[in-house]
Amino acid sequence: MSAKSHPLMSLKNVSKIFGSYAALKNVSLDIHPGQVLCLLGDNGAGKSTLIKVLSGFHSPTSGEIEFDGDKVSFESPRDASDRGISTVHQFGGTFPLMSLGRSFFVGLEPTKGWGPFKRFDRKFANGVVVEQMQQMGITRVTDGDRLVGSLSGGERQVSAIARAVFFGAKILILDEPTAALGVKEAAHVLRIIMQAKHRGIAVVLVTHNVSHALTVGDHFAVLIHGEKADDFAKGERTREQITDLMAGGEAMAELEAELASLTGNIKQVLD
Ligand SMILES: Nc1ncnc2c1ncn2[C@@H]1O[C@H](COP(=O)(O)OP(=O)(O)O)[C@@H](O)[C@H]1O
Ligand SMILES: [Mg+2]
Repeated sequence: MSAKSHPLMSLKNVSKIFGSYAALKNVSLDIHPGQVLCLLGDNGAGKSTLIKVLSGFHSPTSGEIEFDGDKVSFESPRDASDRGISTVHQFGGTFPLMSLGRSFFVGLEPTKGWGPFKRFDRKFANGVVVEQMQQMGITRVTDGDRLVGSLSGGERQVSAIARAVFFGAKILILDEPTAALGVKEAAHVLRIIMQAKHRGIAVVLVTHNVSHALTVGDHFAVLIHGEKADDFAKGERTREQITDLMAGGEAMAELEAELASLTGNIKQVLD
């Protein structure tokens, strides 16, 4: 699948060690424009750490990052966002007490190459955000002065995605965007993800939800204990294979041990 297009971004043997704990071990990953890469894995598998490496919050302990064919090292999240890497965190926007218009433009005013707007113009900002939200099917939001905290979870996710798209993100990284949403809202967010993909944006979607991943994913990587346990294209694995892999041999081994000791205890009581 990667034969046609060059990866926009690649991780090559990236490890991230915290103290003596390896949160990521030799992970290699390619991110392609116009594709959705789903990052799957259990809690603690290293997904957020991987995202933080991609978005400039963490620098890898070892290994390399390539962007557009060049070796890069990000000094800060700003470095990554200047290259068009946009990360939407789990609750979509971290400014609940800020107006929608203001949060849409926050931090981007002085950035070169990310929009022509140097000074904050409330009326203009509100107009843009409402228009962008409407275009993405959020028709209930008609006032850019509304506080971000008053939006539903899905509306927040959509506004964060709209913001990334509006400012020309090349890579859109979404951390569990559907986790806290109802079925309809989740479907809406998945639709918006497909729209971003069709615009040629590379999407990295972190999710626990195998159905959501299978619905929109072109490529999949499964992390287990910081290691890439599997990496495959759409259609190469069944849903059952993916679910089993995510649950992991470990979970089953633990369960067996637990049952064995339980059986032992019962025997003791009976004897
Ligand atoms: N800043 C940090 N310092 C120390 N340990 C960390 C740090 N960030 C993450 N970890 C550890 O790395 C492991 C992977 O965490 P994380 O990447 O958040 O997993 P996931 O997002 O898949 O649930 C966890 O055991 C976590 O405690
Ligand atoms: Mg996480």
